[in-house]
Amino acid sequence: MHLPKILAFCLAAAAPASCQLDKWAKAAGLKYFGTAVDNPSLNNAAYMKIARDKDEFGQITPANGQKWSNTESGQGRFSYGSGDAIANVAKQTGQLLRCHTLVWYNQLPSWVSSSFSRDQMQRVITTHIQNVAGHYKGQCYAWDVVNEAFEDDGKFRQSPMYRAMGIDYITHSFKTAAATDPSARLYYNDFNIERCCNAKINATLAMLKTVIAAGAPVHGVGMQGHSRVGKSPSKPELKNTMAAFSLLVEEVAYTEVDIRHTKLPTSAADREQQARDYLEVVGACLETPKCIGITVWDYTDQYSWIPGQYPGEGEACLWDKSFNKKPAYTSIISMFQSAASAGLRSTATAVPAAVTVEARTITAGTTLATANASAR
Ligand SMILES: *[C@@H]1O[C@H](CO)[C@@H](O)[C@H](O)[C@H]1NC(C)=O
Ligand SMILES: *[C@@H]1O[C@H](CO)[C@@H](O)[C@H](O)[C@H]1NC(C)=O
Repeated sequence: MHLPKILAFCLAAAAPASCQLDKWAKAAGLKYFGTAVDNPSLNNAAYMKIARDKDEFGQITPANGQKWSNTESGQGRFSYGSGDAIANVAKQTGQLLRCHTLVWYNQLPSWVSSSFSRDQMQRVITTHIQNVAGHYKGQCYAWDVVNEAFEDDGKFRQSPMYRAMGIDYITHSFKTAAATDPSARLYYNDFNIERCCNAKINATLAMLKTVIAAGAPVHGVGMQGHSRVGKSPSKPELKNTMAAFSLLVEEVAYTEVDIRHTKLPTSAADREQQARDYLEVVGACLETPKCIGITVWDYTDQYSWIPGQYPGEGEACLWDKSFNKKPAYTSIISMFQSAASAGLRSTATAVPAAVTVEARTITAGTTLATANASAR
């Protein structure tokens, strides 16, 4: 395979500015390469210089600013300061904005109560989405409309929304989001739905079939992509999952990728393994026609959520905490460049989605009907 000369320059220590991720992701045929940006990092000039470089990141996601606890902390009291601070960056730079997230069981204020009746909950969800998605109308490439509806065993989380409305809270949320911001791509987003085919993936496929049949306009599935170095899903596993989702929706994306080390400090060999693990994700996306992009859940270890959530683990990002690029970064650039010069995506899109997972054999019937019947 002929590689462009620029490849050698990009992998050199003093790589020129033309070697950024989004630039090469687009050359390889993806829509974007993006990063989450959280409010505390907005005052860090070194951080923002990279975050605002749209050749590095063609897309940004507010890590927390648009969540329910920030946008409607008290019933009917809407505030958009945190979300706007990130959305305004995208406005200024022209980066795509993935908006995150409308209906989620976590970071949910306690006034959204488990004792709401079905009608009360439906009104609460309607009001929340009409206001928040209405505020950002026209700014969001995509909305994560519903986030993390399932436990890892494939059972619905007993969220206040689920307890009040059963599966219908999902259908209702998508319909309301579509009516509010018709130009946004509407996503279902979750974690541990990357490695084909666990109970949670099967339950997600069944749920999607049910809500789509009920009229929910679900355009995309976001696979968060949090994983551990050396235990990450392989490219074939990732591709199988995306082939199954591709039967049901128009696009799929990796929305929150980070691959953390489980023991620190790391060795050079650990960092090489991390690079290989990232490449499984990037390669799977490139080889899946409906995979449109990859977002990392922050680009530098300085602002990673991992050490706070998983003490003793970390260094999950593409840049270290002093903004040095890791082997994973250069490996990804190199893979994008190879894919660009080989025309990988144009070949991939010419081939119909090769589906090795029988999504249609997954029966929505019993579990969902039972779950719904037990809802208030
Ligand atoms: C998920 O569905 C696939 C395909 O129908 C099946 O092979 C697999 O065993 C299922 N996994 C679980 C954990 O039920
Ligand atoms: C769930 O139950 C509600 C109320 O009984 C009903 O209107 C709705 O159609 C049911 N949804 C599904 C997916 O069975």
